[in-house]
Amino acid sequence: MILEMQGLSKQFRNVTAVWNLSLQLEEGDIFGFIGPNGAGKTTTIKMLATLLKPTAGTAYIDGHDIRTQQEEVRGLMGYMPDFFGVYDDVKVWEYLDFFAAAYRIERSRRPQIIEDVLALTDLGGKRDAYVEELSRGMKQRLCLAKTLVHDPKLLLLDEPASGLDPRARIEIRELLKELRSMGKTIFISSHILAELSDFCNKIGIIENGQLVVSGDVQEILQQISGHITIVIKVVADAERARQVLAPIPHVGNVRVVEQDNTLLVEYVGERDQISELLQRLVGAGLSVTSFSEEEADLEDIFMKMTRGIVS
Ligand SMILES: Nc1ncnc2c1ncn2[C@@H]1O[C@H](COP(=O)(O)OP(=O)(O)OP(=O)(O)O)[C@@H](O)[C@H]1O
Ligand SMILES: [Mg+2]
Repeated sequence: MILEMQGLSKQFRNVTAVWNLSLQLEEGDIFGFIGPNGAGKTTTIKMLATLLKPTAGTAYIDGHDIRTQQEEVRGLMGYMPDFFGVYDDVKVWEYLDFFAAAYRIERSRRPQIIEDVLALTDLGGKRDAYVEELSRGMKQRLCLAKTLVHDPKLLLLDEPASGLDPRARIEIRELLKELRSMGKTIFISSHILAELSDFCNKIGIIENGQLVVSGDVQEILQQISGHITIVIKVVADAERARQVLAPIPHVGNVRVVEQDNTLLVEYVGERDQISELLQRLVGAGLSVTSFSEEEADLEDIFMKMTRGIVS
């Protein structure tokens, strides 16, 4: 377990910003922390980053307590805040060198590390530019580069793509995918759901400081809707395919879209038994060209989960 929250809570005078969050992430997880403005995302992330003290509960990062082992925790995680200042008269490489020094990385190793993170964030051409002269998207990438200098296992990213144009958002997302493929665990907040959908394997929805739901994206969708929808395409004979599927246990409504030989199959059974449907179709001599689970619609989950609480 790389991250474990246990009843994490934060009270500001009369505001309960975060209440009783419990959650576990394994190494390599990409967790989308979703909630509307004021829900408690930044407060939670700042506690994990050891910049705010919890008023109750705690969290462990790779087994280290955020309340008592701040030094170890800070070495294991990279925090990208929602707002960050830039410094005047500082060049891009100096900015990174400063943070590398703060992490006590030896002087001799820093140039190579700086080159590596600049290459990763596609800022190689800007190493001698002044930070204040970078565009917003470049500053955001530089901030991400800064969180990587000490090679942390866990990245805490508070709305890393906010305020960026569509192209810059896509660039950030590509960069995050690259970090994912490097095996980093990523905890990323956003109030834009669609942005996280093709990218996270787990999500949590926070509302009024409370975790409304958390877990595997597809499982959450199934919990809410009660079924999985499987989209199947056949070369021909869609109607015969329907007749093959309909009597199988756990298969609910089967809808045929004749013009493109597609079937939309409601399934209420266990996910690991879905392959049986495919076997039956093939066994009946049908040519299946495509067999897939319908993509989870995060907007939909979000609206369902927060309905009532928001109003
Ligand atoms: N330092 C503070 N003192 C008092 N209240 C605070 C403080 N910081 C945050 N809050 C309150 O805690 C709640 C959660 O705020 P937080 O910034 O964590 O939300 P958020 O989910 O990050 O929102 P956003 O999407 O707008 O960034 C809000 O009601 C906010 O007003
Ligand atoms: Mg915030």
